[in-house]
Amino acid sequence: MTLTLDAPRIVTVDPLLELHGVNKSYGPVVALRNVHATVFPGEVLGIVGESGSGKSTLLRMMNLEETPDSGSYTLDLPDVDGNLFELDRFARRMLCATRIGIVYQNPHLGLLMKHSSSGNVAERLLVAGERRFAVLREKATDALAASEFPLERLDAPPIELSGGMQQRVQLAKAIALEPALLLLDEPTTGLDVSVQALVLDTLKRLQQDRKITMVIVSHDLGVIRTLADRVMVMRRGEVVEAGLADQIFQDPQHAYTQQLVHAKL
Ligand SMILES: Nc1ncnc2c1ncn2[C@@H]1O[C@H](COP(=O)(O)OP(=O)(O)OP(=O)(O)O)[C@@H](O)[C@H]1O
Ligand SMILES: [Mg+2]
Repeated sequence: MTLTLDAPRIVTVDPLLELHGVNKSYGPVVALRNVHATVFPGEVLGIVGESGSGKSTLLRMMNLEETPDSGSYTLDLPDVDGNLFELDRFARRMLCATRIGIVYQNPHLGLLMKHSSSGNVAERLLVAGERRFAVLREKATDALAASEFPLERLDAPPIELSGGMQQRVQLAKAIALEPALLLLDEPTTGLDVSVQALVLDTLKRLQQDRKITMVIVSHDLGVIRTLADRVMVMRRGEVVEAGLADQIFQDPQHAYTQQLVHAKL
């Protein structure tokens, strides 16, 4: 019997995100080569691959921080049309500020380290146009609470916080506007194993409660296995294998994926 696992989903639901034929080089370095990616609403796409395989570059593309040499990017959202790589800087910034949340590999990229934690989250709401102080305060506090940040530390600047707490502030900032798409770049890397588990639990809870569509990058297969519905394996800028998470972990087809999965077991 032939199983066509993807068929029912594809015919009934349009993808939220589609990237087609994305190429990007930095001088002689090919960071992305003909990358395609599809993410359906409410789903978690995990991207794995060795260091330098292009994972962060791909996530920056999804956050419209980078323009590829060629390729297209569409998001199936109200009032959002066409190839997003063709938008001007202002339109990109507004789209990202209002519809996309990101947690960076390095908290220094995502946070103002000397401003208060609640101020960091409020700033995100300000950029999106919110001006009422009480609403700013309430929404920032709600997002920090949902990220399981200790509310007695609302005024503490990220520079005084542990790595796990800094990731929670980034997460609160990313979800404050209830984004249609949440991008996470190595959200648990560099954290102690016990703290990693707590951040993973928070992400899992957010996913279950809010059904946020997520793309999560990690070189840690355990993280991807815990969170992802669908997995993309990258190597040297190329997607070597993509499929449902269960299938990738139980029956990897590509030699590189087999090596990754078996190294982890
Ligand atoms: N702004 C840039 N300028 C020059 N080269 C870059 C730039 N960004 C990425 N690269 C190169 O592109 C390739 C892919 O980098 P990328 O950061 O996307 O990898 P990664 O998979 O996220 O790696 P890691 O697991 O170490 O975070 C690397 O060879 C990197 O050196
Ligand atoms: Mg990276």
